[in-house]
Amino acid sequence: MMYKVEKFKTKNYTVVNGDCLDYLSQIPDNSIDLILTDPPYNIAQYSTGNIDLPGRTALNNDLAEWDLEPIEPAKLLADFKRILKPDGNIFAFTSYNLMGKWHAAFDSEFDTFQFFVWHKTNPAPKIYKNGFLNSCEMIVCMWNKGHKWNFTTQNEMHNFFQSPICMRPERLSNPKHPAQKPVALLEHIINIASNEGDVVFDPFMGVGSAGVAALKNGRKYIGIEIERNYFEAAVKRIDGVENKND
Ligand SMILES: C[S@@+](CC[C@H](N)C(=O)[O-])C[C@H]1O[C@@H](n2cnc3c(N)ncnc32)[C@H](O)[C@@H]1O
Repeated sequence: MMYKVEKFKTKNYTVVNGDCLDYLSQIPDNSIDLILTDPPYNIAQYSTGNIDLPGRTALNNDLAEWDLEPIEPAKLLADFKRILKPDGNIFAFTSYNLMGKWHAAFDSEFDTFQFFVWHKTNPAPKIYKNGFLNSCEMIVCMWNKGHKWNFTTQNEMHNFFQSPICMRPERLSNPKHPAQKPVALLEHIINIASNEGDVVFDPFMGVGSAGVAALKNGRKYIGIEIERNYFEAAVKRIDGVENKND
């Protein structure tokens, strides 16, 4: 399927409505300081649908259509390596089922491959108590020697961040994005792994949460999103921060 690629560029951000796999080749070599991205988890294939709750509205467990398109980290490797500056970092959200693929493709290509955990303080409940809550999300991280790293204390260096999932008013209702990430979490990563004026890149930007976090912290941002309605919401959010900063 061909998508009409549309691009908005301002002083501090560039956002593209299109398929990142087509657009990645247009990003210049050694131009990105931090790849902070959240590709589909491909977990919709395991969904058993909504969960009935006695006497209450069923818990919506349906995942988006776009999650079904297989993500192959190996296909991202060559471009990610080419566009990342030598002192850059990569942080990619992923799920248990894709973790091995990320490791297989990226571990041998970088000096370090680690993971970071986002602990959600308000995950969806499991009323039948028949398994763990899905309260943690995994973020794989990669870098080479000499990478940017802004820690001051050992305490700050835990590979763990705790926050609620996005709630209103941060959570958008139109369009509703099932995977909208909290800006506070993304700001934490951006502040650890990049400096002011750096370029943050998210090829799977959704409604632009990484862009909001980047501009709020004096970074520049490039984002790509395939779905038109998410792209428009992202432009609105990111532009709101740009206008506030001016
Ligand atoms: C997990 S969501 C990202 C959510 C984002 N972190 C946020 O807070 O809004 C992944 C996004 O990638 C988009 N996407 C999937 N395949 C894509 C592709 N090939 N190119 C660009 N975007 C893609 C989906 O439409 C979806 O919005």
